[in-house]
Amino acid sequence: MEYKNIIIKKEDRLAIVTINREKALNALNDETVAELQDFFRHSWMDNSFGCVIITGAGKAFVAGADIAELAACDVKKALAKSMLGLYLMQTIENYPKPVIAAVNGFALGGGCELAMACDIRLASEKAKFGQPEVNLGLIPGYGGTQRLARLVGRGKAKQMIFTGDMIDANEAHRIGLVDEVYPVEELMDKAMAMAKTILSRSPIAVTTAKECINSGLDTNLQVGCDLEKTSFGAIYGTEDAMEGMKAFLEKRKAEFKGK
Ligand code: CAA
Repeated sequence: MEYKNIIIKKEDRLAIVTINREKALNALNDETVAELQDFFRHSWMDNSFGCVIITGAGKAFVAGADIAELAACDVKKALAKSMLGLYLMQTIENYPKPVIAAVNGFALGGGCELAMACDIRLASEKAKFGQPEVNLGLIPGYGGTQRLARLVGRGKAKQMIFTGDMIDANEAHRIGLVDEVYPVEELMDKAMAMAKTILSRSPIAVTTAKECINSGLDTNLQVGCDLEKTSFGAIYGTEDAMEGMKAFLEKRKAEFKGK
């Protein structure tokens, strides 16, 4: 598929996905959602990279779903739109490689929802977050009512969704919506440095830990711990586990192969 709204740059085993609809503040129209879905659906077996960073071109990360398209929906189209958006967020959440959101500016509505589907959220000091759908007479449709409440608790999620107010990066950090905040000019370097650290670890261990955290959070503690136990045992069948422990005991750097 040829991409018109996203740019994929691969370097040093890292894929940087830039949403590039600057004139609409990177709003997610159907085409952009389809392009992102295509990238994530078809790249999970691509061995040329092991980690993804998503960011936005210009002053926005993503200013939401495209309101011009939303305004043209009827009930049936709105349901389909929500399904496609939710499917994209699930694809990212279940993507085996770690996905970091580098939130450079506005992350509103679908943009906040996209960031929340990523594993880790890093923000620039200029980033702004919000679920402003009630201003449009709508509610979040790409998972905001669910993921926001799980990330920041139901009170804060309700406050953000009921008021539709934006919060700045420091407040987002304070409530646990973002994990780190950096000066604008440092954001991408910090995101890349974090990605490189993750890339130096065992990819199988990272993917397995991602699965355990994601699946465990949506079940009870006992089931989550059972999943961890089974996965802990299974990882002993990998060469990376043998190499990691051996390297430690031999006081050298481990060379992980993802096997
Ligand atoms: N959809 C379509 N176009 C958008 C857009 C969006 N979500 N957000 C911004 N744009 C467009 C504007 O219409 C404008 O286009 P023109 O130059 O052609 O007029 C351009 O981007 C620049 O925007 P502004 O002039 O408004 O820029 P600003 O700096 O004054 O304001 C802003 C920035 C506060 C982010 C403002 O653009 C804004 O409020 N945008 C809408 C945010 C929003 O409501 N998002 C939620 C969408 S609903 C949703 O996402 C539902 C869901 O969960 C799936």
